[in-house]
Amino acid sequence: MELRVFEKYPDLSIGAAAMMINYIERKPDALLCFATGDSPKLAYQLVAETIKREGTDISKCFFIGLDEWLGISPDNTGSCHYFLQQYLFGPMGVESSQSCLFDAMTTNEEEECKKMNKIIAERGGIDLMVAGIGMNGHIGFNEPGTDINSMAHVARLDEITQEVGKKYFTEEVAISKGITVGLKQVLQAKTLLMMASGKKKAPVIKRAVEEKTGTHWPASLIQQHANGVLMIDTEAASELVTQFR
Ligand code: PGA
Repeated sequence: MELRVFEKYPDLSIGAAAMMINYIERKPDALLCFATGDSPKLAYQLVAETIKREGTDISKCFFIGLDEWLGISPDNTGSCHYFLQQYLFGPMGVESSQSCLFDAMTTNEEEECKKMNKIIAERGGIDLMVAGIGMNGHIGFNEPGTDINSMAHVARLDEITQEVGKKYFTEEVAISKGITVGLKQVLQAKTLLMMASGKKKAPVIKRAVEEKTGTHWPASLIQQHANGVLMIDTEAASELVTQFR
């Protein structure tokens, strides 16, 4: 794993966006898996702007969403679906035939998982995985204690995820269940980019970087990834006892 520390959130976003664009340029038929959330938001906007401005060919790429709140409609501004359309897929001009997101309104959760597993398997795994880190150390909805060999699955969300998740919604919603790409698929991504910023993420990053790696703190598994890149800002790095202090 490589740790890169940037001064502030905008610097981190520029760095992450550059890495994503570079990846697409080097592998124009890549399978890219994107998380949602505050951490990657600006980076996605920068990616979309750059791709439009430079006319980067994304026609052979395929895009998937990392996770979704089950039961939350895609029209809801707090849904992962809405987020990716709004900040990335729409502005970047991704065709509907080039992307797959979990259907949060499904009556057949198993089929949704199978659908995502099939896409990932057919493409030989995820090429670039872009993720944030939850306040409980989760990656997507791979909550602490998730099986390291898990494929796409439905997850019961823990209290921290439900509480923190309220920030994405303008109204009160029930967010007790999520659907997510599995830890195995995340860790098998050829490149794993994870981002975190701000003071509140400092203890989260400390555990991810300095604690023994394990599923008790899923973000710490990036330590085992040969092409794992953790991009954070100085505030998120502020509790590290390493040279970044
Ligand atoms: P955030 O979410 O980027 O909004 O902090 C991270 C996560 O929960 O994965």
